[in-house]
Amino acid sequence: MKNGPSNQKSLVRENNQKNSRMKPVVIVTGKNGQLGWELQQLAVALEEQYHFIFTDRTNLNLSDPSTIAPLFEQFQPNYFINCAAYTTVDKAETEKELALTINGTAVGEIARCCEKQHCQLITISTDYVFDGNGTAPYKTDTVANPVNYYGYSKLVGEQLALKNNPSSIIIRTSWVYSQHGNNFVKTMLRLMKEKSELKIVNDQIGCPTFAADLAKAIISMLHEIQSGNKHAGIYHYSNSGVISWFDFAVAIKKLANLPTALYPITTAEFPTPAKRPAYSVMDTSKIIADFGIGIPHWEESLRQFFYKGFRE
Ligand SMILES: NC(=O)c1ccc[n+]([C@@H]2O[C@H](COP(=O)([O-])OP(=O)(O)OC[C@H]3O[C@@H](n4cnc5c(N)ncnc54)[C@H](OP(=O)(O)O)[C@@H]3O)[C@@H](O)[C@H]2O)c1
Repeated sequence: MKNGPSNQKSLVRENNQKNSRMKPVVIVTGKNGQLGWELQQLAVALEEQYHFIFTDRTNLNLSDPSTIAPLFEQFQPNYFINCAAYTTVDKAETEKELALTINGTAVGEIARCCEKQHCQLITISTDYVFDGNGTAPYKTDTVANPVNYYGYSKLVGEQLALKNNPSSIIIRTSWVYSQHGNNFVKTMLRLMKEKSELKIVNDQIGCPTFAADLAKAIISMLHEIQSGNKHAGIYHYSNSGVISWFDFAVAIKKLANLPTALYPITTAEFPTPAKRPAYSVMDTSKIIADFGIGIPHWEESLRQFFYKGFRE
């Protein structure tokens, strides 16, 4: 395993503590990403119940999937929550091999290791597996047909996860934002402070996901599985409600009380290297039914974002 010595030592120290307490071991990848960071916040209150090990790319680099099996052998996790991903959608059009390794091959290898060690995998995927031609919310069994390479690489990850370990749980989410990291909300706030007017795409429809809400949902799922109730397969999670990026920007402007003039434009007027699905709304009823998860409306969660405060 290509770990830096100090990182390896700190993970080993954490693991020794776990052995003495015999708590279920939960590995979470992508600790510095939006979702990984939110899970770190929640893990603090759960340390009596679970032993969390958070990794970043210095102690588990998914661009080299051969490093995954040694990590499993060393820590023997009971749960593996994969929040790490290649997420730069436009760059994936040119960095195809890297995107496919991280989002596809590595997820397949994680699932293989989970199967071997009876570890429950929860891995995160995306609404971008859909082509955007739908007119009603996508069900978890709606046929996937990605229109960009990022979506394709994530779909390969889903397929390998289920092929190598049918007990895998895949959570597709969409339009993720958090106080931590880069996202549409923070970009809008920055641009609204810099510019007197902005043009925002109004013909891509979807639903934002506040990473703090998704992190809470994942912890609920963890408790449910830990209590002995088995679930597997594909789930959808986003906040409730349906909006365009323009609608989202209008709400951000209102809550931030900024004077910037906002104008709706079409996708054709804002070309990007990667094509985006026009209609990206997912049906979340399965995760609600199977796990009893309550999903806040996007407006309520956006208010929470402002209430909690954020780093520029
Ligand atoms: N963001 C969205 O709008 C969105 C929408 C739909 C689905 N999703 C999915 O939701 C999940 C969480 O997304 P997010 O918004 O939290 O992503 P994010 O903020 O971009 O974080 C991604 C994380 O992956 C890590 N990572 C990237 N390459 C890696 C590598 N080679 N080895 C190990 N770690 C690596 C990053 O590490 P560094 O911090 O070192 O870069 C970062 O911590 C991902 O599966 C993503 O595909 C996201």
